[in-house]
Amino acid sequence: MIQLVIPVLAFLALTSASPAPLPAVTPSPTDNNPTQTYQRRGIISNVESDINSVLSSLGSNIPSYVADGVANFFQDFPSGSAVQSSLGLNDQQVAALPTNVLNLPPYGNWTDQGWNVRFHGNVYKQPNTSEAELNKLANVFLIGTSVEDLPPSQADQARNLTAEIFVVQQGNQSVSMHLEPAPSAGSSGQEGGGGAVTPSGGDQNVTLPYRTTGEGDFDAFVPIKNVTGGGVAAGNETNDIQRMNVYATGSEIGNATAYLVPPEGLTIVSDIDDILRITKIYEPKEGLLNSFARPYTPWLNMPDIYANWSRSIPNFHFHYLTTTPEQVTRNYMDFIYKTYPGGSFDTRPLNFSDVSATLSIRKYLLIKIFETFPQRKFILIADTSNSDVMTDYPEMATLFPNQLQCIFLRNTSSTDSGDRFPYNTKGFKDLNQERYMFFNVPDDLTNLDIVNGQCYNQSIRQNLTFGDQGLPFGINLGKGNKTSHDMSSRRWNGRDLPRFCFT
Ligand SMILES: *[C@@H]1O[C@H](CO)[C@@H](O)[C@H](O)[C@H]1NC(C)=O
Ligand SMILES: *[C@@H]1O[C@H](CO)[C@@H](O)[C@H](O)[C@H]1NC(C)=O
Ligand SMILES: *[C@@H]1O[C@H](CO)[C@@H](O)[C@H](O)[C@H]1NC(C)=O
Ligand SMILES: *[C@@H]1O[C@H](CO)[C@@H](O)[C@H](O)[C@H]1NC(C)=O
Ligand SMILES: *[C@@H]1O[C@H](CO)[C@@H](O)[C@H](O)[C@H]1NC(C)=O
Ligand SMILES: *[C@@H]1O[C@H](CO)[C@@H](O)[C@H](O)[C@H]1NC(C)=O
Ligand SMILES: *[C@@H]1O[C@H](CO)[C@@H](O)[C@H](O)[C@H]1NC(C)=O
Ligand SMILES: *[C@@H]1O[C@H](CO)[C@@H](O)[C@H](O)[C@H]1NC(C)=O
Ligand SMILES: *[C@@H]1O[C@H](CO)[C@@H](O)[C@H](O)[C@H]1NC(C)=O
Ligand SMILES: *[C@@H]1O[C@H](CO)[C@@H](O)[C@H](O)[C@H]1NC(C)=O
Ligand SMILES: *[C@@H]1O[C@H](CO)[C@@H](O)[C@H](O)[C@H]1NC(C)=O
Ligand SMILES: *[C@@H]1O[C@H](CO)[C@@H](O)[C@H](O)[C@H]1NC(C)=O
Repeated sequence: MIQLVIPVLAFLALTSASPAPLPAVTPSPTDNNPTQTYQRRGIISNVESDINSVLSSLGSNIPSYVADGVANFFQDFPSGSAVQSSLGLNDQQVAALPTNVLNLPPYGNWTDQGWNVRFHGNVYKQPNTSEAELNKLANVFLIGTSVEDLPPSQADQARNLTAEIFVVQQGNQSVSMHLEPAPSAGSSGQEGGGGAVTPSGGDQNVTLPYRTTGEGDFDAFVPIKNVTGGGVAAGNETNDIQRMNVYATGSEIGNATAYLVPPEGLTIVSDIDDILRITKIYEPKEGLLNSFARPYTPWLNMPDIYANWSRSIPNFHFHYLTTTPEQVTRNYMDFIYKTYPGGSFDTRPLNFSDVSATLSIRKYLLIKIFETFPQRKFILIADTSNSDVMTDYPEMATLFPNQLQCIFLRNTSSTDSGDRFPYNTKGFKDLNQERYMFFNVPDDLTNLDIVNGQCYNQSIRQNLTFGDQGLPFGINLGKGNKTSHDMSSRRWNGRDLPRFCFT
């Protein structure tokens, strides 16, 4: 959901931030009507009419920087004291609230010192915000509708998500966890399957070496002990992924499952939006409803594809890596674990919230997992609507040539005429076609022998020209069709473009 509206707002920001004229840009209507404004980090617009006018002004002439911009609609979630003051809470009221921990399901690697587990998440307090106030706040996230007009269950979800966003993060907190064997995937709420085993022991408490950041985040590798009685198998003596439950001390909702992943084997790093669930981030209004209000819905039969892989590939490690902001991760986890195999999770931490950090978080997290498992092979999967994916995924092939097994990218514009934003495939130019596949529907992924590196089904036409793709009316600006708005020059018709236009 994060990249939702991104291209559009990047576009708007560009129009309002740079007074000098750019081609084919319709000025914001709010320039003339300052009362109908909606403000986010200096971007002032009447969301509805601006988006419509931007979409219609794009017409057949979508500038490539629109798609390359990864500004973030959810960039400016308020946090900490901003929430406290916007809800009018004093320090005593905040102090009286229970402490919650968002405990993201960790992975652990095997080292000379034993298992090393990466605990990460956030410590916060959730104010008891009234329904009326939540309705008001939730309406900010909807376009062309309001919470009051949604069916009750959707209105409920929109309020829930809004309440999760309006939380007061707790800095300088000590974080402790209790670990014990996880009885089974099912009982830890992971109905989507997943082939890990339960160790026979390993109960222990650990305290993280650092306190939470000013934004309440924690992220640290901590060695866990081989406690008396043993129980957890050594990583050099098993190929199984072992599953431990992790309970954050002092929080009712700080439960997660940790995955102790042996040094060798296959790991899939999976994006979520528009690959595992229907988001339509390229259609802002739909994307917002699909993220805030409607029940999260799997994309076609993707769950069958993952279930088959989980059943048939021994010790396949599933890692979900989304750049959605941390505050809304619970909803993603709930959906994933009901629908897809259990696995570890990464999301966008709070300190990655300015624009350039938003652009860099996926690569940061990818490098972290590749470095943590230097002998494992990786399958990367996402869709073409994320410009960071389009550069970061192929870059992993360059940075970690021995670890990249396959890249699968769903071509969202091939199946969804609502996706009119172009994407750039130039990162794939030097990659062996056997290593990657652009595909249309989940069934395109059946019968591939990914364990042995068969990533490409020759019956799926690739249509690649290694340049801007997916322009309207089937126009592809291939390598041979460079225009004056060539993104690699970071200039548009002779002018420097703002940094956030690039990945
Ligand atoms: C596994 O690693 C531990 C710690 O490095 C070492 O003591 C042990 O001998 C190793 N076992 C095998 C089978 O290599
Ligand atoms: C939250 O506030 C509502 C009404 O404002 C009240 O009924 C409810 O008991 C409160 N819940 C908690 C947990 O304080
Ligand atoms: C909203 O949150 C409440 C309390 O956590 C929960 O009982 C309810 O099922 C949630 N509703 C939706 C639609 O997510
Ligand atoms: C963090 O908390 C510790 C323990 O309560 C305290 O000693 C320290 O001064 C605090 N640090 C900051 C920067 O507030
Ligand atoms: C972990 O800490 C809890 C109290 O927080 C304690 O009851 C329990 O015995 C400890 N477990 C171990 C294995 O030390
Ligand atoms: C823990 O110790 C037991 C008994 O010495 C051993 O079999 C097991 O491999 C060890 N596990 C780890 C994680 O080192
Ligand atoms: C978290 O785990 C504790 C201990 O097993 C359990 O009592 C609690 O209900 C769990 N909370 C959730 C939200 O699953
Ligand atoms: C965010 O914090 C982590 C540590 O939790 C640090 O490694 C990283 O560099 C920080 N990133 C940014 C963009 O500040
Ligand atoms: C385990 O992960 C840490 C953190 O990424 C990394 O520094 C270390 O090299 C890894 N250890 C092994 C043996 O791969
Ligand atoms: C390739 O182009 C054909 C014809 O336009 C289209 O049907 C197909 O979906 C495209 N394939 C991909 C992977 O985009
Ligand atoms: C299920 O996964 C296995 C392992 O990758 C693969 O060989 C097989 O073709 C898959 N089956 C289907 C129907 O995709
Ligand atoms: C490049 O432009 C020429 C002339 O406009 C056009 O005929 C050709 O199809 C274009 N190539 C691609 C790959 O789109």
